[in-house]
Amino acid sequence: MERISRTKIADLQAYEQFGVKVNVKGWVRTRRGSKQINFIALNDGSTINSIQVVVNLENFDEEMLKLITTGACLSVNGILTESVGSGQRTEVQATEIEVLGVCDNTYPLQKKGHSMEFLREVAHLRPRTNTFGAIFRIRHHMAMAIHRFFHERGFFYFHTPIITGSDCEGAGQMFQVTTMNLYDLKEDDQGSIDYKEDFFGKQTSLTVSGQLEGELAAMALGAIYTFGPTFRAENSNTPRHLSEFWMIEPEVAFYEIEENMDLAEDFIKYCLQWALDNCMDDIQFLNGARKHLYKNEEADDLIERLRFILDNKFIRLSYTEGVEILEKAIANGHKFEFPIFWGADLASEHERYLVENHFKCPVILTDYPKEIKSFYMKQNEDGKTVRAMDVLFPKIGEIIGGSQREEDYEKLSCRAVEMDVPTKDIWWYLDTRRFGTAPHSGFGLGFERLLLFVTGMNNIRDVIPFPRTPNNAEF
Ligand code: 4AD
Ligand code: MG
Repeated sequence: MERISRTKIADLQAYEQFGVKVNVKGWVRTRRGSKQINFIALNDGSTINSIQVVVNLENFDEEMLKLITTGACLSVNGILTESVGSGQRTEVQATEIEVLGVCDNTYPLQKKGHSMEFLREVAHLRPRTNTFGAIFRIRHHMAMAIHRFFHERGFFYFHTPIITGSDCEGAGQMFQVTTMNLYDLKEDDQGSIDYKEDFFGKQTSLTVSGQLEGELAAMALGAIYTFGPTFRAENSNTPRHLSEFWMIEPEVAFYEIEENMDLAEDFIKYCLQWALDNCMDDIQFLNGARKHLYKNEEADDLIERLRFILDNKFIRLSYTEGVEILEKAIANGHKFEFPIFWGADLASEHERYLVENHFKCPVILTDYPKEIKSFYMKQNEDGKTVRAMDVLFPKIGEIIGGSQREEDYEKLSCRAVEMDVPTKDIWWYLDTRRFGTAPHSGFGLGFERLLLFVTGMNNIRDVIPFPRTPNNAEF
């Protein structure tokens, strides 16, 4: 086979020079045609669009042709020509074909229209479907958008540890990290496990958030963000929870909660605009795919969905006002599964009611009761609420959680003790409040929740390559 350097299919589609010889490599999506001519849709992942390879059968070896089945990997030399058929602009008239990898007939992606549930069982292969190709390309573009947004604004990307000795959210939902022999655990004098024997000489876990270390950095570099995996051992089997998810956590010195809200709104809008500017092919594909996957009312137009957020200012109101609206809704006959009263944590149905039914717009809810929020949030004068801010989104519910931080050493350490957060594990965190403390604020955006919104998928397991959820850590 003649050696020609490979061109990616994404690049070929922009080519203007017809009649040149090219090489393409990729996987067979479909093969159809007559006894004389076959059409192979070849995809190399660089774009949602497959290239059509036109094969004049009499020019090729019969035994080789038999190997060109769905899923097989090919290298094709051929002439780039303008396509006469609709759909694609260019095609390749094959002159030489090499089968790089055959694909036997147990290949699970033989036909179109597999259910999302089935595709989760073959997560090692699902990136080869159009739907998951689109999702994972969008995932990449969103990650780039996030780095661009912060870099352009002078934020520094700061790497916080994955293995930690402290529980940032204080919810006790951590995965332990240990090298101890679980069949032979040593006990100390009190009959507890003796972690001195363990790898780090203390109890450690996978982090639930990089915030505490992020705050240390903000008190030195001014404005930072983290972007990494976080782990939560909460037993929530919902379409919006993962045990391993990626979080972006900016933290800014001298920001009060209003500036924090402005940052959150600008940030989300920048990401959505980026998706429209850079991922239109994939978004349009998903828009169509969703019409088959989901019921009508769930398959809203994705592009309109994104534009709507860009065109509207987020509504800002307090938790107390939010609860009043929900109570009125109940008085007017609306039914919720979970009870709502001042002091209760909002369930997803409550958040979505505010956003989808009442305001029909994203909402930033602030000043939550201190009992339902973390120890580090700045305490309000009223003694009852803290300066929290949650950004609530249509279809998603909570997409961002954040707050202004308590910068007063006494108030912060008292609250930690009240909430049973072991202060001996976070002495270093408390130190920032002793050594040049300052007002500061930050938040966490759930990366997969953002992706749910952008891709229009309705299950979070379908926007991360290899989802980890209770009873599920395959691949
Ligand atoms: O509200 P959370 O728990 O806030 C924090 O972790 C803070 N330390 C953030 C900060 O202020 N720096 O989580 C932040 C966001 C949520 O709004 C949600 O989008 C996402 O992380 N999230 C999850 N995403 C997927 N699966 C889960 N189990 C999630 N838990 C939270
Ligand atoms: Mg939260």
